[in-house]
Amino acid sequence: MPHQTRRELLAKTITTTAATLIAPAALLAAESKNEPEVTATEDLMREHGVLRRALLVYAELADKIRQQPASIDAAALHKAAQLFRTFGEDYHEKMLEEEHIFPIVRKMKGEAAKYPDILVAQHHRGREITDYMLAVTSGPRIASNHAAPLARAIQDFVLMYQNHAAREDTIVFPAWKENFTSRQLDEISDQFEDIEHKMFGADGFEDAEKTIGGIEQAFGLADISQFTAPPPPKP
Ligand SMILES: [Fe+2]
Ligand SMILES: [Fe+2]
Repeated sequence: MPHQTRRELLAKTITTTAATLIAPAALLAAESKNEPEVTATEDLMREHGVLRRALLVYAELADKIRQQPASIDAAALHKAAQLFRTFGEDYHEKMLEEEHIFPIVRKMKGEAAKYPDILVAQHHRGREITDYMLAVTSGPRIASNHAAPLARAIQDFVLMYQNHAAREDTIVFPAWKENFTSRQLDEISDQFEDIEHKMFGADGFEDAEKTIGGIEQAFGLADISQFTAPPPPKP
């Protein structure tokens, strides 16, 4: 079901109940019944969830790429890199973090202000690596001469982004949030939704989640029970 912004929900409620006089409290109740609002930081963090799932796919594949590059589904890996490009780099990083989050955090006092410059440099390095991944996965198979450097680049990318997203979730986003009231955050959340709709249509997040699910399927990584840890040895 497409996510609706507060404004859209309100407009819908007003239209469908045009003949009835409704109090603001009733409007709010109708709104909360329809779909829970996704806050701005929740939005950013669930985007990280999609990107982390792409990183998990990358991490699973790195050794196989190094050892048996011809056995890798190059088209599915290409699709993962395309998802990281459009949803991660072009949207989440460029349109949200670099436009809305980092400029504010940069001006703050304290620990968080040190992060934006480093994080932007990492965004740029990430783009270079994604360009490379897209180039070497564009054919039906990964050529053997690309196997070792691609595996290395993927492992470096995964390590960088695991650190990157974890710092954003725990230091940068919470610091950014301190600058706003709840009402302002609601408005920003709607703004983020508008950007998402402009870039991807009605279901940006839902489509990205489906895409990563399909990629996991293609590599036999969809069933998470395979990742349940074995029992530890007896001490
Ligand atoms: Fe970032
Ligand atoms: Fe991020």
